Amino acid sequence: MNERTAETPASADANLHQDQPTRGAQATRQAPLRAVPEDALIIVPVRNVVLFPGMVLPLTVGRERSRAAAHEAARLQRPLGVLLQSNPDAEEPNPEDLHWVGTTANVLRYITGPDGTHHAICQGTKRFRVLQFLEGYPFMIAQVEIIDPPESSDPDIEGRAIALKQRALETLQLLPQVPEEVVAALSGVTGATRLADFISGLMDIAPAEKQALLETFDLRTRLDKLLELLSHRIEVLKVSREIDERTRGSIEDMNRKHLLREQMRQIQKELGEGEEGAAEIAELEKAIDEAKMPEEVDKQARKELKRLQRMPEGAGEYSMIRTYLDWLIELPWKAEPEAAIDIAEARRILDDDHFGLEKIKKRILEYLAVRKLNPSGKSPILCFVGPPGVGKTSLGQSIAKATGRKFVRVSLGGVHDEAEIRGHRRTYIGALPGNIIQSLRKAGTRNCVMMLDEVDKLGAGGFQGDPGSALLEVLDPEQNSTFRDNYLAVPFDLSTVMFICTANVLDTIPGPLRDRMEIIQLPGYTAEEKLQIAKRYLVARQLTATGLKPEQVQITDQALMAIVGDYTREAGVRNLEREIGTVLRSVAVRIAEGEVPHMRIGPDDLAAMLGPRKFEAEVAMRSGVPGVATGLAWTPVGGDILFIEATRMPGSGKLILTGQLGDVMKESAQAALSLVKARSQELGIAPELFEKSDIHVHVPAGATPKDGPSAGVAMFVALTSLLTGRPVKSDVAMTGEISLRGLVLPIGGVKEKVLAALRAGISTVLLPARNRRDLEEIPPSAREKLKIVWVERADEAIAATLPPAHVETAPAPA
Ligand SMILES: Nc1ncnc2c1ncn2[C@@H]1O[C@H](COP(=O)(O)OP(=O)(O)OP(=O)(O)O)[C@@H](O)[C@H]1O
Ligand SMILES: [Mg+2]
Repeated sequence: MNERTAETPASADANLHQDQPTRGAQATRQAPLRAVPEDALIIVPVRNVVLFPGMVLPLTVGRERSRAAAHEAARLQRPLGVLLQSNPDAEEPNPEDLHWVGTTANVLRYITGPDGTHHAICQGTKRFRVLQFLEGYPFMIAQVEIIDPPESSDPDIEGRAIALKQRALETLQLLPQVPEEVVAALSGVTGATRLADFISGLMDIAPAEKQALLETFDLRTRLDKLLELLSHRIEVLKVSREIDERTRGSIEDMNRKHLLREQMRQIQKELGEGEEGAAEIAELEKAIDEAKMPEEVDKQARKELKRLQRMPEGAGEYSMIRTYLDWLIELPWKAEPEAAIDIAEARRILDDDHFGLEKIKKRILEYLAVRKLNPSGKSPILCFVGPPGVGKTSLGQSIAKATGRKFVRVSLGGVHDEAEIRGHRRTYIGALPGNIIQSLRKAGTRNCVMMLDEVDKLGAGGFQGDPGSALLEVLDPEQNSTFRDNYLAVPFDLSTVMFICTANVLDTIPGPLRDRMEIIQLPGYTAEEKLQIAKRYLVARQLTATGLKPEQVQITDQALMAIVGDYTREAGVRNLEREIGTVLRSVAVRIAEGEVPHMRIGPDDLAAMLGPRKFEAEVAMRSGVPGVATGLAWTPVGGDILFIEATRMPGSGKLILTGQLGDVMKESAQAALSLVKARSQELGIAPELFEKSDIHVHVPAGATPKDGPSAGVAMFVALTSLLTGRPVKSDVAMTGEISLRGLVLPIGGVKEKVLAALRAGISTVLLPARNRRDLEEIPPSAREKLKIVWVERADEAIAATLPPAHVETAPAPA
């Protein structure tokens, strides 16, 4: 065992020999046939330990070849390559017996144990992969590739690293007797790669699993794996700690219970009654019979029941199986005959519950008629898209009423984890079915209307699976008759469920999902429509809520209109209903106090009940100075007005843009300025004005990001107004993209924008002439109230928005 040390030159690591008791012995060494090539690594195979970079481990150097390797490495001052044996039984491992990914290690020192075994204290440095083993040496050597990806500072990685450290610390807290130093060392580790390796080294898992971590070169994947492993570990530790605590206190308790149970069994025997457990099993069996499950499910249920039967009642698994059986039993497996749809009745119900929405009701009725004629056909999935409070949910409820179905809601907003839709496997602690199956149990029938709310806010797929694709499976008529929830692990037929989706915006709905749906847009209501909705539905509903009788209070139309205009600004009617509720509650207080027997609410009474008006005539306030134009924007909650403010200061011709503008909007501002410059002569602007000033365009509210090309016209008008000193007419709003040649290009969201203008008290709206085809979208009442000017060219926009120029070249105020 000592022959090789004799020839180790003194220049090698001095530490190497400190524990070697027999240096200087005889030299019968079989010298390497050839020198170890510069680019090769001396390999030491190990059993049962995986060395990670950064980690210090004692490796037992028992085998002849390994000792030869260690000494040669020390002599040459070269690192060792540590490889885990894939075949731990191999005494003299060949390359096939090894994993080909390992860690290079510096030997810090050698120790000989009291029993004569040799250990090398190794510090892992880098991952490597074997390219090729070289033959003809008394130990293994290999040509390798060092795997050393640079540390990236990707937020994705950093986030995972932070979570990983937290979880690791949490795990340490759950472990008994962890030395303080370990916690301190872990807290001190920086960098995601080092952290991952450090924790991998600490993990109490099988060598093969550690090797798998070592071989996961992609840092992000490795972090995810570790996170998963740690989460699992934490769950296990928590449960085991809980059980520990519980059992400690309850051992005596259990003995007592056991005695009592035994006694009870005896008594029941005497009385000729079955055992308690047997009764429960019989009950479950009966429930399974009655549930009329499909064959496969029935089999599964009975198998689980058998397992339950054999299990002592106190066993932890007992309650898990019991819960599972309860789920199977309570799910609506039975196919019930579908209630016939009466289209006339459906029409009546829709009209009863909703004012207006003619087109939408018509499409719903068409949809129902198709279902009626062909109940087994694959009908498309309806999806209501529109701002909050326009009646998406309540239309769904009406459809349920009209088809005689139960209504259930599933909220998908913020669902990031596929398991929320599809459930967790039963092996997972605290597993439950996903929300589709949960709401079916709630509905109690497969013939229900299931409203999937906020499909546009579904979280993107991450490492917890893609909820979107799970949903796709739910909605796909080809697949949903055998929908498999992870918890149930048996197929459930969803094909008789009528799914309806809702969303605020269309463009964040995942594409494949959108393709599967029939989109029905609800753009929002005009003030008149709101008045009608309030008079017919909202007031009555709030009366019931406050317990007032209709004869006790009357809200005049003017008061309702004032609430619509001065206290709310929304596309839907939700706030309107809330404000009406507030008014009625203060009426209720006064009537209850006996102050008055009944009340009539006019517009002047509102301030006392609702406070000062919330929405002043903002437009008049803001515009009216040169450089400010009113634009129209489309937003997920309906349209809104926005102000383009331009100002000028002495400078050198720079254009400053603020207000969180997106790239398209910035470019649009630049294009508008170029157009103004190009037309400066016709517009009466002195060209030197541009050279001597900086122009600042701001779009409040500065905190909301804005983008899109449709403010082009408004920017052009604002800049022209600024540079000619002519204020924009304050009751005009405009929308339209602008080209460098001065053409006004069409835009989207016409209806929402026009309604927003109306809400804001605008009287004239400039729209691109090429949007004429959308005229029909605009409700007639809005068309009556608003003057719509169709513009084809930028000059027409100027003519319609600015007063005629008096002076040839107006001096622009700075
Ligand atoms: N056309 C209408 N006629 C009568 N009531 C209406 C109409 N539109 C909306 N409502 C009422 O307005 C309220 C809000 O509607 P609902 O809850 O359906 O909005 P929603 O579109 O689902 O909004 P969200 O996107 O916030 O879920 C409900 O009480 C609904 O009955
Ligand atoms: Mg809703």
